[in-house]
Parts: sequence; C-alpha cells; structure tokens
Amino acid sequence: MPRKEVYGGVTITITKDHDEMSKIATAIILDKIKSRSLNLLVPTGTTPQGVYTLLKEQGKSIFPKATFFNMDEYCVQSEDTIKLINSTSPVSYRQYMKEWLFGESQVRSYFPGIENIDQEGTYDKIIKQHGGIGLCINAIGEDGHTFGFNFPGTSFASRTRLVKIQQQTKEVNQKLTGMETPEYAMTIGLKTGMESEEIILLVSGERKADILRKVIIEPINEKLPATILRNHKNCHWIVDEAAASKLGK
Ligand code: PGA
Repeated sequence: MPRKEVYGGVTITITKDHDEMSKIATAIILDKIKSRSLNLLVPTGTTPQGVYTLLKEQGKSIFPKATFFNMDEYCVQSEDTIKLINSTSPVSYRQYMKEWLFGESQVRSYFPGIENIDQEGTYDKIIKQHGGIGLCINAIGEDGHTFGFNFPGTSFASRTRLVKIQQQTKEVNQKLTGMETPEYAMTIGLKTGMESEEIILLVSGERKADILRKVIIEPINEKLPATILRNHKNCHWIVDEAAASKLGK
C-alpha cells in the first residue's frame, strides 16, 4: 500500500516501486478523462513508460477524448540552420510517443517546433487556443530540470523555446536510450508547465534520490528548476521508495 508523508510542507505519495507509482498515476488520469475531454501535457523518458503502457491498453476509450501536447522535441543543426529532428528518427520524441503510447491509433497530438522554432512562445499560444492544459504528467532530471529541458538557471517566466542540451543530460539520455543525443531541443518553459490546472509529478529510482531531496528542502529558486513545482496548488507528488530513500535525511 502506498503511504503519504509530508516533507518541507509537500505531501508525497510513496509507492513500493515504479509499477505501483505508474498504477496510481494512471488511475488519476483515467478518473479525470472519464468525465471530460482532456488536454494533456506529456513528457518522454523512462519515468512515464509504465503509465504509457497502462494507458495504451485503454487507448480505445482514452484517445477520442484526449489531446496530447508533448513537452519537447529534439532539434538538429544542418549547415547553418537548426531544425526539428525528422519524425522518423529513432531518437525523436514523435517516434517515442508512437512506440510507447499512440501505436497506430489516430491521436490528436502536438509537438513544439512544428509551427516554427524561431519565435518564443508560439506553442504556448497553440496550447491556449485549445483551452489550456487540464493535466500535466511531469518528471525531473538528475540536475533538477523539469517540464522538458529547463536546465538549472532557467527563468521561472520561461516559455516554449529552442535550447541547447546540457552535457550531463546528453550523457544520461545517451546511456538510457543507447542512441546519440541531439544537440538541441524545443522545450516548453517553466511558466508553460506551471499554467497546467493539475500536475502529476513522477520520480522513480535511486538515481533520483539526491535530486528529489534537494528539490524538497532547498529554497525555491531558478538554480533548481524543479523547486518551482512546490508553488503549484494542485500537484500530486508520486515517487517510489528508491527515489524517496534520502528524504528526511
Ligand atoms: P527520465 O528523464 O524519465 O528518463 O529519468 C527525466 C528527465 O530527464 O526529465
């Protein structure tokens, strides 16, 4: 059974493992989508894979009511221009979403950078035109980045824009995917993510234990972007035992 504990004023649901974390998060999503159409802001990476596997099984009942907005997508430099990575590249997040969630189903989905990659905030306008985000699934990186690639030092007022991927994250992603990480990405901003009505933050595994502890106990500040989540009024913090292992120490 999951338990709830409070650290630094934040109520955290601690689950036995990644599977239980994924089941609890999926139940919240299914309950919400049961009664209404839903705009979802979604990440990639290893953290949400359990949730996506469970949601994919329910695809037929979910996809007609859901519109997915991805948080980020890689970009590559070709000659002197930077452009969105090809959707057929195995490292692209459009491929990832197809593999883990969408399959061959017809799904309404958006990715930042399709419209253009030059103008900050274009994607935010598209999200607003669709009525905003009802539910955001979110994760954190080992350096505290969150809502996509918002690295340490990112302004809390940031919106969707082009960023250069930092070396540490490149190496982590390379190890996890076995593929070379591109140099650039379009990512939503911290402000974009925080405008979601409701957030499910998932943190899993021992490699996230140090950063989760910092995100909970350190002052809310731009050097640790994920601390901004403590300002959100409707964020479910759902973490597994391994990620929670350094809380309270
Ligand atoms: P991960 O990535 O889910 O693969 O740990 C999280 C992130 O870097 O945001």
